[in-house]
Order: sequence, then C-alpha cells, then structure tokens
Amino acid sequence: MIDLFTQQRHAELCEEINRHNQLYYNHDLPEVTDAEYDDLFRELQAIEERYPEAITPESPSQKVGASAAEKFAPSPHAVPMLSLKNAKNAEEFHDFDTSIRKNFLAQSAELDYACEMKMDGVAIELTYKEGKLIKASTRGDGFVGEDITENIKTINDIPHSLTAPYPGTLDVRGEIYIDLADFQELNRAQEDAGDKTFANPRNAAAGSLRQLDAKVTAQRPLRIFCYGVGRIQGVKTSTQIETLQLLRKLGLRVNLEETTCVSGADEVIKTFQQLQDRRDTLPFEIDGVVVKVNEIALQEELGMVSRSPRWAIALKFPPRQEQTIVEKIGLQVGRTGAITPVAHLKPVIVSGVTVSRASLHNWDEIERLDLRVGDHVIVERAGDVIPDVVKVLLEKRTGDEQQIPLPTECPECNAPVHKSPAEVVPRCNNPHCPAQAIERMKHFVSRDAMDIESLGEKQLTQLINNGKITDVADLYLLSKEDMFAMDRMGDALAEKLTLSIASSKTQPLSKLLFGLGIRHVGKNTAKILARRFATLDELAKCTVDQLIAIHEIGDKVAQSILNYFGNPEKILLLQKLHQAGVQPQGEVVIQQDGPLTGKVFVITGTLAKWSRKEAEELVEEAGGRTAGSVSKKTDYVLAGESAGSKLAKAEKLGVEAVDEATFALLVGVVL
Ligand code: IVH
Repeated sequence: MIDLFTQQRHAELCEEINRHNQLYYNHDLPEVTDAEYDDLFRELQAIEERYPEAITPESPSQKVGASAAEKFAPSPHAVPMLSLKNAKNAEEFHDFDTSIRKNFLAQSAELDYACEMKMDGVAIELTYKEGKLIKASTRGDGFVGEDITENIKTINDIPHSLTAPYPGTLDVRGEIYIDLADFQELNRAQEDAGDKTFANPRNAAAGSLRQLDAKVTAQRPLRIFCYGVGRIQGVKTSTQIETLQLLRKLGLRVNLEETTCVSGADEVIKTFQQLQDRRDTLPFEIDGVVVKVNEIALQEELGMVSRSPRWAIALKFPPRQEQTIVEKIGLQVGRTGAITPVAHLKPVIVSGVTVSRASLHNWDEIERLDLRVGDHVIVERAGDVIPDVVKVLLEKRTGDEQQIPLPTECPECNAPVHKSPAEVVPRCNNPHCPAQAIERMKHFVSRDAMDIESLGEKQLTQLINNGKITDVADLYLLSKEDMFAMDRMGDALAEKLTLSIASSKTQPLSKLLFGLGIRHVGKNTAKILARRFATLDELAKCTVDQLIAIHEIGDKVAQSILNYFGNPEKILLLQKLHQAGVQPQGEVVIQQDGPLTGKVFVITGTLAKWSRKEAEELVEEAGGRTAGSVSKKTDYVLAGESAGSKLAKAEKLGVEAVDEATFALLVGVVL
C-alpha cells in the first residue's frame, strides 16, 4: 500500500511536471534544464512502478508533453506521436537491450540498432496526400497537436510535393531545428530590433513555429531532419534504415550520413561516445543519440508501453561543462529593486556558444559554492545560453581570490540597500532608482504585459537618455520624431512601433495589471483580479476584505495591492495612462452573488452546445469557478460525450454529475 508521504510526493511531482510541460511546450519558456526535468520524471516513474495504484489520468506519465495551446486549430494525429524513454548512461542502455532480448529473442542473439542523432529541436508531423503536403502539426499532447501548416509551408527544406512514386497517404515525423550560426545571427537581429532574444536554438525554433503570422516564420532560418513515419499507405519497408532511404527518395531531408546501423549494445555505446566527442564540432545542437531497433517486424512485435515505444530509447549526453575564471561580480537591479549577483567570466566556448556570464541567483548560492572573484570554476550549459556555475576548483586557489560581500549600496543609484532576513537578496528601496525604472518599463512592454514590440532595453534606454520618457505613460505621448531619435529607426520600424503602442492601449485589463508590476501580482493573479473587478478604478477602491474574499488571494497579495493603490505616485501614473488613452478592455466579470457563487465545476468530455472555453465562461459569469481535476471540493461535474475518468472519479466521490441541459438551467441560459 502506498504511504501518505509517497502519495503526497507523487501529487507534487505530477503538478510540477505538468507545470514544466506547460512552460516548455506552450510558452517556450522552460524553467528547468532537460536533466532536471528528466530527474523529476524518473522519480515519478519510480513511484508509479512501485505503486501502480498511484497512476491517475492526470499523471504526466500518461501523456506526452502539454495539451495543445489554443491559438492554433487542434490537429489530431492518425497515429499517436510518442515520446522516448531516456538512458542516462551505458549501464541503462545495457538494461534496455537485455530486457528486449530476454523477453523477445533468444538471449544470445545480438540486435541490430539504427543510431541516429537526437536533434535538439521541435518534433512535427507532415501529412502528404497523393504526394501533396496538406497538413503540418506540432506534437501537442501526442494525440492532438496544433495545426501549423501555413508556417511549415514557409520552410525551404520542406517540399510541398513529393517525388513520385509516393504512398497515397504519408505522415512523416521530423525535427525542426536551427543551425548554431543562424541562431547567433537571429539573436543579434532580435536584439537590434529591440525584440526578446532566445535562450537557445530549440526555443528559437519553437517560438518561430508558433507565430500567428507565417511571414515571421518565413524570416527564421528553420531546417528539418525527418526521422520516421506515422501512417504510410501502400508501401512497406523492412528496416528503419530503409524507411530513411525511402524518405530521402521522396525528396525529404534525412540525416542518413550521420545514421549508423550497428550490431549489439557495445557497438551502440561506441557510436554514442564517438558522437559525443564530435558533438561540439557539429553545426547544430544534438542532445544525444536515438537508438532504434532496426527491424520493423521486431518493432511491431515490441509495441509500446504507456507513452513510449519499447523499441527505441534516447541515450542522452551529459550537460556540457567547461572551466573558466570569474573575473568580476556584476550586480543586477531588478524592477522590484532586488539585487542579484552575476558572474562575469573569462569568455569560454561551451559547445559552440561563447559564454561570458553566469547567473548566481543570490548570496546563499555564493555561500554554498564558496565562490570568490578570481576563482577557477566549472560552468555548465544545459541547453541554454546563460550557464550556471556548478563548482569552484578549490585546489586552484592562489590566495589572491576575493570574497564577494553583500552590497551596502545600490550599484546604480547608490541608495543604501537592505536585506531582510526573510529574503535571499538585498533590495534597493529607492523608488526613483533608474535601473528599476528601466526594468519596470521592460516589464510593462513585455509580451505577457502590454506586448509592445520593437522596444527592448537599448531603445528604452535611448528614449530615457534623450529625455523623451520618464515613465511608461510617456510611451503613449511619443511622436514619430521622438522615435527617429533612436538608433536604426527607419520609417517602417517607426510605423510598426506606433501601431504596436497604439494597439496596446486596449489590451485586456489583466495584461495592464500584470504590466504595472505590482509586487506579488503575477500573470495569474492579474487574471483573477480582472475577472473580479470590471475596471482599474474598481480595483483601486477595493478594501482588504473584498480582496481576501477572493479564493486565490491571500494577505500578502492583498496588502501589496492596497499599498500600490495607496501610493500617490502610482495614482498619478494611472491618471497619466488614462489621459494618454489607455483603456484596458474589461474581461468576464464573475458575479459576486450569481446563482453559482462559490461553486466549483469540472468540465469533462466533448460538449455538444458549447466549446469548453464557452462553458467555463458561463460558469464564471454565474459566479462559479472551474477546476481541472475532480476532488472533494468539486460541486458539479459537467459531463459531455465520452467523459472518462473524471466522471468515474466524480461518481466515486459522490460529486453530482450534470448533463448539458441541467447545466444550462444552473447557469441560467435558455437553450
Ligand atoms: S524518434 C517513437 N528520432 O526526441 C519515436 N526522435 O523524446 C519518437 N528527436 O519527440 C521519436 N531526433 O522530438 C526520434 N532521430 C530522432 C530524433 C528524435 C530528435 C526528438 C523528437 C522526439 C524526442 C524524443
């Protein structure tokens, strides 16, 4: 029987991994390295192996990636796009090999394996009908991806027509990636245009594929290697290598030159090591080797378990590390005044990318590493451009290294700084600190806030230095001439910027709220507030009791909101924004005394009358809330067509299940 502690840990892991999936797949903003993610996943799998009763449909082990984001049309895969199990080292690969041979072959036989480069990019599927490219989709949750056909059609590597003779229907799978040199150039261009730079080539590829305007995708240096098939009509290949050869004959780009077919586990490990040695000389990032049983008949016999095939595994490289020296410690002042240390390094090339900075996070981290200026350190780049300092080489100390003291004054405005014992970083409390001001502005214009494109740090600094802006409200008063005073500002860019600023005036209220940078009001809290208060004015006048009455808002957040609206300078800023024409759009406001006030709904299955989003809005308009999973706190489950496990759980917990007609009555709509 599973104990309480393990059960709790299992729930925690599910939540954490699902959150990382969202960040990675839907926002291109991973918070953890691949290795950290893998560790979490393994821990989850270990628990589930021992206690299969812990597995729920919500467990990330039961799905691949995150569910598809909403801006592209859903695109189901005829054959699910699975994920791969990982082997971290040779021993784990031997276990994989032994288990296949023990269960499926005479143990003495060696297996033939196709070893392919594991491209570090984004998986996609291309569908060809009668030789014509008719659809392209992302992997999504493995069953339903996003339709990105228009974007994919802009990629030169991808043929719109196949070379005859071709299969009637063909689903091709492959990895979209960006070459390292192209990536560096893209980031330079992004920086020049004032746009956000990408942390690594994979994020750049993912971000480029998810553009709503295919013209933007067309500008990005995307490439593809195809590595497999889903549906294939009328043609049969007998090995993985033959499949790759067929794809090439059809005109698709395949990395056959770097694919080897070897016999037995020892040869696989040898291939893996050779590739690891060459890894840094390649024009693109690879994060390991994908090893596939070559024989298709055997692949079919092996089949799959939960989310991955039994006939393939990824042998991942360890993260890349290099040695360098810490030359100095820089101090970064954030928009809330938090001061974080950054190590300035003697530049070192870590797998093709020059690194000269490493984040140190806070002074606890400096203490943990026992880091000093002048130290020889090991830096590790786990896919991202900004690496971490993982170790100090104490044996290389000469005695000249210098301790890194906590700053006593702000590096930007010289105001005294203070570190409260409850925090890991000191703060500059000067509300007029210029470094904070610029960070606040960067935050205000960022994608999740007012989403003003073409205004990066460089451009904002110039506007401030030229005396054109002193706060974010001034952005709305800029003239074309003011814009031309910025470097590299031509007619076209000024036009784009003008439009972007103008259209930000009517962003949803939640985006403005987030953009204001109220302490503890992140994206989610901003959304919750916007659903409760129709206007900024209403929020500004609210009482602490009104705030705390909102389910998700606690004392700390409530106090911070009151402080913000109690600050005369902030009120002036809000007035200035208002006068400049900023009129945020109200969102669905939850009724305080609606028919469903305080009730929690879970919606499951396919609804006939509404989309899921519409049904959620109906609940909210009637004062209720929706949740993703059924628990004792759930009041109703709205069950549509083919509702599955959630309905079963509701029955088990005695939660009332309603159909669409009853639901309509509850939310007060006439059908
Ligand atoms: S085969 C069922 N081959 O790695 C087989 N995948 O988690 C699934 N990848 O989603 C994939 N290079 O995005 C395969 N040569 C290759 C690959 C490859 C990169 C990616 C792909 C997949 C992930 C595995």
